[in-house]
Amino acid sequence: MQSRVEPLEEGKEPQVTNRTIQSKALPLRLLRVLVPFLALCVAFSAISIYTIRYFGINSAMTAVKSTFEPCYEEAESLQQWIRPPLNLMHTMTDAELLWRASFVPRIKKYPFQRVPKIAFMFLTKGPLPLAPLWERFLKGHQGLYSVYVHSLPSFEPNFPPSSVFYRKQIPSQISEWGRMSMCDAEKRLLANALLDVSNERYSFMGVFDDPGPFGRGRYNDNMAPEINVTQWRKGSQWFEVNRKLAISIVEDTKFYPKFEQFCRPACYVDEHYFPTMLTIQVGNLLANRSITWVDWSRGGPHPATFGRADITEEFFKRILGGHNCTYNDRSSSICFLFGRKFAPSALEPLLRLSPKVLGF
Ligand SMILES: *[C@@H]1O[C@H](CO)[C@@H](O)[C@H](O)[C@H]1NC(C)=O
Ligand SMILES: *[C@@H]1O[C@H](CO)[C@@H](O)[C@H](O)[C@H]1NC(C)=O
Ligand SMILES: *[C@@H]1O[C@H](CO)[C@@H](O)[C@H](O)[C@H]1NC(C)=O
Repeated sequence: MQSRVEPLEEGKEPQVTNRTIQSKALPLRLLRVLVPFLALCVAFSAISIYTIRYFGINSAMTAVKSTFEPCYEEAESLQQWIRPPLNLMHTMTDAELLWRASFVPRIKKYPFQRVPKIAFMFLTKGPLPLAPLWERFLKGHQGLYSVYVHSLPSFEPNFPPSSVFYRKQIPSQISEWGRMSMCDAEKRLLANALLDVSNERYSFMGVFDDPGPFGRGRYNDNMAPEINVTQWRKGSQWFEVNRKLAISIVEDTKFYPKFEQFCRPACYVDEHYFPTMLTIQVGNLLANRSITWVDWSRGGPHPATFGRADITEEFFKRILGGHNCTYNDRSSSICFLFGRKFAPSALEPLLRLSPKVLGF
C-alpha cells in the first residue's frame, strides 16, 4: 500500500513551515544510543525471570553467564526472525537489501501467533503535510500497521517520539519522477517492509491496457522477447500488493534492465514497470483496478487537486457513494480506500470532517 505527497507531479515545491528546531537534540541522540541497549537489558531481564521461574536460580546464573557471550548467541532464537527491526535505518546496500527481502519461508504455517499488518509506505521529498490526519487514522491500532517513509536523503524529520512517523525513515536515495530511480525508491520501500514478516498487504494493483499513445505507444520493440506489446500495461503508482506480489517486485532481475534501458521519458517507467512485469509474471493475481479514488474530470495531464474550499460533506458523498465494483468476485459499493490529491490546505477541513465522514 502506498500513499505519497507528491509535489513533483505539478512541479510544486512543498512548503516547510514552522520547523521547530529541537533543543532536545542531545538527549535524543543519547536516547538513540541507549534504546538498543535498554532493549537488550529488558530481553536479558525477561530471560532471567523466565529461567528463575522455571528452572530455579542455578540455571538463571547460566543465563547470566551466557548473555555475556557475543551476540551470535541470538541467532538461535526465533525472535530474531519474527521481531520487527528496532531501527529502520540499516547499513545494507540496495543489492543486499533486495536479496535479504526476497527470503520466503517454504512452510506456510507460522509456528507463532502472526498478526498480519498493513505496511503504509510514504514516498516523499520530506515533509508530510497530511501527517496529522494519518496520525489520527492510525491511532489506537498499534500492532496492526507499520509505517515506512522514503524521503530525500538530506531531509531531517522532526517528528516527536509519540508520532507514528517517528524514526520511520528508511535509508533513502534521490529519486526523480518518471525515472527508474523512482521505481528503485518504491522497491526500497517494499523491501524494507518485507523485512518484517508480519507485514501482509492488499493484493490490488491498478493495471490497464491502454492502446493509445500514452499506453502502448510507449512500448519499445527492443523490449522483446521478454515483453510483448500485448503485455504492455499502465498503472498509477498508487498500488496495493500482498507479500507474494511484493516479493515478485523485489526479486525481479529479468524485466528491470529492459525498462531501465528502453523506458525513458517520454516513457514514464514508474507508470509501466510494475504493472507490466506483474501482468506477465502473476497476471491472475491482479485486480486490474485501483482502490485509490482520483478525479480526472477536469482534463489535462494531471488529476484534480483538492484544497480547503473543496472539502465538504457533499464532496465526500460524491467520493464514497455511487460506485459499483467487485471485491473477491462479489459486488461491493466500497470501491476506494484511498483518495488523491489533497493540498496541504485541505488538512484543516479534513481533520474537522473526518470523524463524521471517514469514521475516525
Ligand atoms: C505477441 O504476442 C501475440 C499473442 O501471444 C503474438 O501473436 C505475437 O506474435 C507476439 N508478438 C511478438 C512481437 O512477439
Ligand atoms: C487481470 O488481468 C489479467 C491479464 O492481464 C487476468 O489474467 C486477470 O484474471 C485479471 N484479473 C481480474 C480480477 O479480472
Ligand atoms: C450499483 O448496483 C446496484 C445493484 O446492482 C444498482 O441498483 C445501482 O444503481 C448501481 N449503482 C451505480 C452507481 O451504478
